[in-house]
Amino acid sequence: MIWYVHNAWAGQVRERMHMTETFDVKLAEKVCRPDPSCRERSWIGDRDTAYRRYLDDPEGFWAAIAGELEWFGPWERVLEWNPPHARWFTGAKLNITHNCLDRHVAGERRNKVALIWQGENEGDEQVYTYRQLHRSVMRFANALKRLGVEKGDTVCIYMPLVPEQIVAILACARIGAVHSIVYGGFGTSALNARIRDAGAKIVITADVGYRRGRRIALKAIVDEAVVNAPSVERIVVLRRSKPEIELYSEMEVDFNEIMEAADPFCRPEAMDAEDPLFILYTSGTTGTPKGIVHTCGGYMVGTYYTTKYVFDLKDNDVYWCTADPGWITGHSYIVYGPLAVGATVLITETVLDYPDPGIWWRIVEDFGVTVLYTAPTAIRMFMKFGEEWPNRSNLESLRILGSVGEPLNPEVFDWYWRVVGRSSCPILDTWWQTETGMHMIATLVGEPMKPGFTGRPIPGVVADVVDREGNPVPPGIGGLLVIREPWPSMMRTVHNNDERYLKYWSTIDGLYTAGDLAVKDEDGYIMILGRSDDIIIVSGHNLGTAEVESALVSHEAVAEAAVIGVPDAVKGQAVKAFVILRLGYEPGEQLKSDLIYHVRMSIGPIAMPSAIEFVQSLPKTRSGKIMRRVLKAQEMGIDPGDISTLEE
Ligand code: WTA
Repeated sequence: MIWYVHNAWAGQVRERMHMTETFDVKLAEKVCRPDPSCRERSWIGDRDTAYRRYLDDPEGFWAAIAGELEWFGPWERVLEWNPPHARWFTGAKLNITHNCLDRHVAGERRNKVALIWQGENEGDEQVYTYRQLHRSVMRFANALKRLGVEKGDTVCIYMPLVPEQIVAILACARIGAVHSIVYGGFGTSALNARIRDAGAKIVITADVGYRRGRRIALKAIVDEAVVNAPSVERIVVLRRSKPEIELYSEMEVDFNEIMEAADPFCRPEAMDAEDPLFILYTSGTTGTPKGIVHTCGGYMVGTYYTTKYVFDLKDNDVYWCTADPGWITGHSYIVYGPLAVGATVLITETVLDYPDPGIWWRIVEDFGVTVLYTAPTAIRMFMKFGEEWPNRSNLESLRILGSVGEPLNPEVFDWYWRVVGRSSCPILDTWWQTETGMHMIATLVGEPMKPGFTGRPIPGVVADVVDREGNPVPPGIGGLLVIREPWPSMMRTVHNNDERYLKYWSTIDGLYTAGDLAVKDEDGYIMILGRSDDIIIVSGHNLGTAEVESALVSHEAVAEAAVIGVPDAVKGQAVKAFVILRLGYEPGEQLKSDLIYHVRMSIGPIAMPSAIEFVQSLPKTRSGKIMRRVLKAQEMGIDPGDISTLEE
């Protein structure tokens, strides 16, 4: 399978990057041409024209897009750039929820459906029009104010994918509270670390989430996670199951009760363009996750722009992004971007194979989904189940397919194109990161598609593949993926750690390094080869090796641990752990499953190692750093590259 080749290849590329500047990559190319008519009607039109418009006047380009939205007060300057710190739309006043809600409610979209939710039981659904969503958000915003939440306070949201989560997110933004959403699949210690780092004053949760017919007790995890988190004053609980769970202390309040008691009208807080909108934690190469900070103005412009011009959303689209709001994809492309353009957004609590692997395709048919945005790992899963599942549903409503999170390898592209898209839907592969906030490199609607390649930098973005000195490398030569110019939705800092932010711009002086290895072809299409650092992408979710290692080491039996990513046919990569046991502990199958369970409880199911190997020693540098690339090279049977710093 090419996937393995692809991964082994990335492994080799990674090794070579430690030693030399450049290396050759063989590019097998196939071009897939969509019907030219889809470009004629697209918002973006001709890419080259749009890109030239950007290059001729970058600030004018972004100002024109910002001008499509409503502001409470004008900006003095579009961009103030003191590398590597950028300020966008300085002095401007806005509220992102005004653009996501009030702007539509005041016009023709008042009774348009904003949100459709389907629960795990088919037929269990809720629908919010823009007017209804606006009202709920205003009430909940007032409820938060009554709990003492003020502009600038941090609110942690740890919820299942239900409409109330979207309401909670927007309510925070309405009153200028900074939200920090933690994915509902994370366990106690991951949640605790995020609450503490953000200094959250309130935690909003639910009693349970539903998954494959089982209840996941979220509130019980919160109870443990707030121990040793002195910043937390209140816990708001959405009680879903009957009979309702009891709320114990003074600290706990009911989501619906505080909402009903609140005033119905809440004016949106006038935020400065550079005020923080949210913190979102992403994996770092150290044990502590990084709190990526995004601001109100630039983030709004970037997500609005890409939702409209990359996804090409039109007013009659039914748009479904299968991510969770706990990841950046959910922030940018379930909540803020789509609502800013006034789209109809579908969300669902269902997983892709429960009650059976036909569920997603029945949803597409049932709701007439037109734009589907998902991850390669999901498509690989469906490939495993077989074509008969999508073939049982009528998928003719689909007109655009999107992909994000990891390389869309050629066979997966082919299946997505042929089986889901009936060989007629453009496939938009979108490369971006938590840090970038918005799409950066993508194949746009109507453009020739090259399976395996993400596409080219979108108008507004200057990306390149360079060597360690920052010199562009020619086509076919692999190197580091970088961004040269600032963009509105770039992260502004890492919460409590501006040093870490500076590092993104200092690996190669003056360029933003993304941590990805890539290669360009003659036409400027970029292929992503994988990470250059200690991050593992499991099912499109990035995990820091260090966070998994520290979870393992927190188990009483473990003296030391190292984890690496290994190729996995479905998840893209899986976690493999090498463990040295403490004296007195014996290796064995039981201990393996205990350790896997331990990681699951502390970080969550996505971090569970798929394999554990007990070892006597780990390859280390003389300064004591674990050389994961040596383990990786061994595992994959490839040349480990320069091992001169290895101790033994
Ligand atoms: C990877 C997710 C290949 C990449 C939006 C990046 C991709 C990391 C793609 C960011 C893609 C994302 N093709 N690789 N289309 N999209 N990646 O922060 O390694 O969760 O650096 O943001 O995912 O992951 P994050």
